[in-house]
Amino acid sequence: MKITSAEFVKSTWRPFDFPQEFLPEVAFAGRSNVGKSSLINVLVNKKKLVKTSSTPGKTQSINFFDVNDKIIFVDLPGYGFAKVPLTVRKKWKPLVESYLKMRESLRLVILILDVRRTPSQEDTELLKWFNLYNIPTVVVLSKTDKLSKTKLKKHIQMVRESLPFVGDNIIPFSAVTREGKDEIWKHILSSTGI
Ligand code: GTP
Ligand code: MG
Repeated sequence: MKITSAEFVKSTWRPFDFPQEFLPEVAFAGRSNVGKSSLINVLVNKKKLVKTSSTPGKTQSINFFDVNDKIIFVDLPGYGFAKVPLTVRKKWKPLVESYLKMRESLRLVILILDVRRTPSQEDTELLKWFNLYNIPTVVVLSKTDKLSKTKLKKHIQMVRESLPFVGDNIIPFSAVTREGKDEIWKHILSSTGI
């Protein structure tokens, strides 16, 4: 899709503070530091729409972005990083769960996994939970530029085997080479119907 505008809408820490639902939403979920915010920047061709950081736990609130006045991208805070303060980690579950459960405009969740790591128990639980609630999901394997071609093949296979219930919806991606960008957009367009 040709990007004509991509703008920050709102950041919130509290479920009752979510913006009103006008447009279809696509949420980006995953462990801290996997590259959720970087993926959003690549998809909208902006270097700094969303803040990224090499320190895990950068995004702690839920952030809403308007793309072309047609879709809302929702950057969810990451999970699973022990160094993030306990107070923040305790807030994650109620905040993210209430978003995922009550948001009628949610059309797709993009779950991002670092291609170099075996999916964690939290990743698997979240994917099963999406299944249970019938939330359409695509898995993106990020940071493919960090592996050689041979290793990459092996790792993709390893992830596929550890997540047999995901099927074919697994897309390798790199924010550096932009590999996978068009395929991710295809999924976004077909699930939001725009
Ligand atoms: P939290 O907000 O902490 O949950 O992290 P996040 O998932 O939003 O990750 P973010 O986009 O901030 O990226 C984390 C770090 O990984 C940053 O230093 C990024 O530059 C780097 N990074 C993200 N994607 C890629 C990628 O595809 N390749 C490489 N080489 N680095 C990446
Ligand atoms: Mg982030």
